Amino acid sequence: MTKLLEGKTGIIFGALDENSIAWKVAEKCIENGAKIILTNAPVAMRMGAINQLAEKCGAEVIGADATSIEDLTNLLNRSMEIAGGKLDFILHSIGMSLNVRKKKEYTDINYEWMLKTFDISAISFHKLMQTAMKMDAMKEWGSILALTYIAAQRTFPDYSEMAESKALLESFGRSFGYHWAKKANVRVNTISQSPTMTTAGTGVKGFTEFFNYADKMSPLGNASAEACADYCITMFSDLTRMVTMQNLYHDGGFSSMGMAPEVLDL
Ligand SMILES: NC(=O)c1ccc[n+]([C@@H]2O[C@H](COP(=O)([O-])OP(=O)(O)OC[C@H]3O[C@@H](n4cnc5c(N)ncnc54)[C@H](O)[C@@H]3O)[C@@H](O)[C@H]2O)c1
Repeated sequence: MTKLLEGKTGIIFGALDENSIAWKVAEKCIENGAKIILTNAPVAMRMGAINQLAEKCGAEVIGADATSIEDLTNLLNRSMEIAGGKLDFILHSIGMSLNVRKKKEYTDINYEWMLKTFDISAISFHKLMQTAMKMDAMKEWGSILALTYIAAQRTFPDYSEMAESKALLESFGRSFGYHWAKKANVRVNTISQSPTMTTAGTGVKGFTEFFNYADKMSPLGNASAEACADYCITMFSDLTRMVTMQNLYHDGGFSSMGMAPEVLDL
């Protein structure tokens, strides 16, 4: 049987350790016959875990700070050399909040840090798509994905400035999705994932309690990182060629729920 991503090459951003959603996506890409290039910020690469994944996947690792146009240009150039041409897919799996990390309250935010958070977590998606477009780096009917969270639409107090980061990220997906479709029939979507036990996820205050709450609120339970990776693979495949400019919920039904008896202490 032909594998879903046979003959396709893409870039995976954001595999920090084996809990990372991007790590699972990388593994599934290989299982499904794709060739991948792994990338992360130089500081994350020094921690070393990504090299284990690279070995397992037979992939090259190219360091890039996703906020640097120079780094993105170098990454795309080198990736096209590896691919022997244009790319089929890209996963943006990047998120980091300085105010959350430094435990600064939302009502007492540091605006320098907030701008840096927006740059890393959202504007990097625009920078990536703009750089790739200028370099004509995507194949016809290629697929670009970013990971997001429902705090873009609803209030989750401890998610802080990441809520606005995700709203911006999703909007970039829609707006740039138009331009990519017109240029090369490339589709751009965001996947809104359940809370997941990763470095970025568990950095949010009260995450474990919230994870359990979301699990009860979702009729199918929280979607795992592995399940998210499966969804990413289908979005990279030719089976979803007409899906673009969408924010796609991958959350076990959480986003459609009003009240779940399971969470009430009756
Ligand atoms: N974990 C969750 O609960 C959850 C839920 C919904 C969406 N998401 C999103 O999924 C994505 C992946 O996060 P994760 O949960 O796998 O956590 P993670 O901590 O494993 O991944 C975040 C990645 O962002 C990278 N990164 C940070 N700054 C960067 C920069 N300047 N340049 C390049 N890379 C940089 C980190 O090195 C890391 O690899 C994020 O966008 C996150 O917001 C996570």
